[in-house]
Amino acid sequence: MDPVTVGVIGAGVIGAGVAQALAEAGHRVIVVDLSSSILDGCRATIAQAVRLQRLFRKSTQPGDAGLLTRIVFTSDREQVGEAPFVIENVTEKWEIKRGLYRDLDRICSPETIFAANTSAIPITRIAGATNRPGRVIGVHFMNPVPLKPVVEVIRGHHTSDDTLARTAALLQTMGKDYVVVRDSPGFVSNRVLMLTINEAICLLHENVSSAADVDRIFTSCFGHKMGPLATADLIGLDTILYSIEVLYDSFKDSKYRPCPLLSQMVDAGLLGCKSGQGFFSYQKAG
Ligand SMILES: NC(=O)c1ccc[n+]([C@@H]2O[C@H](COP(=O)([O-])OP(=O)(O)OC[C@H]3O[C@@H](n4cnc5c(N)ncnc54)[C@H](O)[C@@H]3O)[C@@H](O)[C@H]2O)c1
Repeated sequence: MDPVTVGVIGAGVIGAGVAQALAEAGHRVIVVDLSSSILDGCRATIAQAVRLQRLFRKSTQPGDAGLLTRIVFTSDREQVGEAPFVIENVTEKWEIKRGLYRDLDRICSPETIFAANTSAIPITRIAGATNRPGRVIGVHFMNPVPLKPVVEVIRGHHTSDDTLARTAALLQTMGKDYVVVRDSPGFVSNRVLMLTINEAICLLHENVSSAADVDRIFTSCFGHKMGPLATADLIGLDTILYSIEVLYDSFKDSKYRPCPLLSQMVDAGLLGCKSGQGFFSYQKAG
């Protein structure tokens, strides 16, 4: 597949990674978010990630100086009108996504594929907000996107074979393998992960253990690369809360009820890596 133009809507934690990985693959990227300050932050995040990757790989190459020139940053979503793919990464709130998809449906060619990078919202529900349900698919990237080799792809009720094939071809250009699952709230990954993270937060809330020790059980005893609380900080505690709220609303099952400590931390602005403080402390980027 030749390089194409891809619209990336939402320039937060995961949108920045998606834009970087697409540009690294040679695609032209149009990143859309609500304000120039958010877009400036996204540009700085990508520039920093590229610098760190170069250092980490101890590359003697000058690096891909053209990468940032392949990315356009704009708050004008009309600019994605000609893109054959749009990857959506906006806040995990149905009211926000629904309005956006209605608008994208008007802006984009009927051929354009909408790839939803949602954590938990069913793809069939998203497709229902458009007049192109066959061209809507779930593409759940993992964080940090440029370093994660596999993507969870979700087939909505109407997702066509052609949409799946074209999405697979795009992922291949990015060096990504993928696992296809059927549509269900949280899919496979987050149906399991969000419960695990929520339960880990409950353990902290009940004073059973410290954050460091909860995570150590997973890293030292189970050999996981990261514990659930550091993973939550990496994803963003607001995104964790909104995702588990989607599961709770969808299944009406109390096992998905968000831990009060999680809600309180989000209210307090303790969002994890992106705010500098979550269950652990971080140097704030930028
Ligand atoms: N953080 C992760 O590790 C991760 C992984 C996979 C998928 N996701 C999903 O990706 C989406 C974004 O998550 P995130 O962690 O990047 O959140 P985030 O809060 O870091 O970023 C969301 C961005 O969306 C922007 N936004 C909101 N409404 C918009 C609109 N109408 N138009 C354009 N931009 C808009 C916000 O300004 C913000 O910059 C969510 O659906 C989330 O569930 C997140």
